[in-house]
Amino acid sequence: LSAPTKDRQGSDGARHPPLSEARYLVSIDQVDRFSAAGLFEVADRFSEAIREPRTKELLAGHIVALLFFEPSSRTILSFSAAAARLGASVISHQAAETSSLAKGESIADTVKVVGSYADIIVMRHEEPGSAAAAALASPVPLINGGDGGNEHPTQALVDLYTIHKRIGRLDGLRIGMGFDPLHSRSIHSLCRALSLFRDNSVTLVAPKALWMSEDLLAELCGRGITVEQTEDLDALFDQDIAYVNRFQTERIESLSDSETLRAKYRVSASMLERSRLQLVIDPLPRIHEIEEQVDSMPQAGYFEQVKNGVPIRMALLWALAGSQA
Ligand code: NCD
Repeated sequence: LSAPTKDRQGSDGARHPPLSEARYLVSIDQVDRFSAAGLFEVADRFSEAIREPRTKELLAGHIVALLFFEPSSRTILSFSAAAARLGASVISHQAAETSSLAKGESIADTVKVVGSYADIIVMRHEEPGSAAAAALASPVPLINGGDGGNEHPTQALVDLYTIHKRIGRLDGLRIGMGFDPLHSRSIHSLCRALSLFRDNSVTLVAPKALWMSEDLLAELCGRGITVEQTEDLDALFDQDIAYVNRFQTERIESLSDSETLRAKYRVSASMLERSRLQLVIDPLPRIHEIEEQVDSMPQAGYFEQVKNGVPIRMALLWALAGSQA
């Protein structure tokens, strides 16, 4: 285990302190293998004690604000469930259109206002870098629930935790990732997270129009993780783990022949059966990227991954809001 790294360069170009010192989580770069292991231990304990009365006392009297300006099911509901399990109350606006951002209020003013009602804010916004701007303006701790196509640090922690539980290690892994490494914030954060561990290699599988940007590729390679890109779907099946995510249509300007690509870039039961893959995970929602017959196969880990979202987010809420108790 390495000691926590100070002030790592975050993906929005700013320097953010490590999670152990920060009052916010905007980038997975704030986490190192040491703090990740600590969060996983707490998450394990929360999983065991999820219904115990003492768990419900940990954030009793606290208020968690959920500010989601982009669609969400898993992230918003698992944070709500995590808050409820810890005894906190949740406040949120009904929909993005009903918040004052729709009237032109700045993100900074919004979080200043919401931070005067709540003890911690979880925010999702379409603008890359918005989470960092919000965290710096916020009077209370803030967690990034996804900032456009940039980062999704809490998802990366859920992904690492799932891999750790299923495979038993986070080093020396061969991971295939598809199918939109250009726009998938979950892929971006997981690649960064895997670079904290040793000897991991990532094979990105996608149509060429959706390949990861050269800048991010160079940054990842500079961190010592091997990253390759290919259009060849077979390469995904030649790994230990497949991490797949839908085409991020809301961020894709145009994709020619998209129906053919959807039909091609998917994990089918027949290909999985013949492969060496031990685990298939997906941040979900599943659209085209995994055939439903895969759900009952032993390698399918995506519904377990969803379940892991609650104890991980409990550990994060406790780490950031519990210290204010
Ligand atoms: C992901 C997201 O919002 O980036 N979903 C999630 O949070 N579980 C993946 C996606 O939308 O494809």
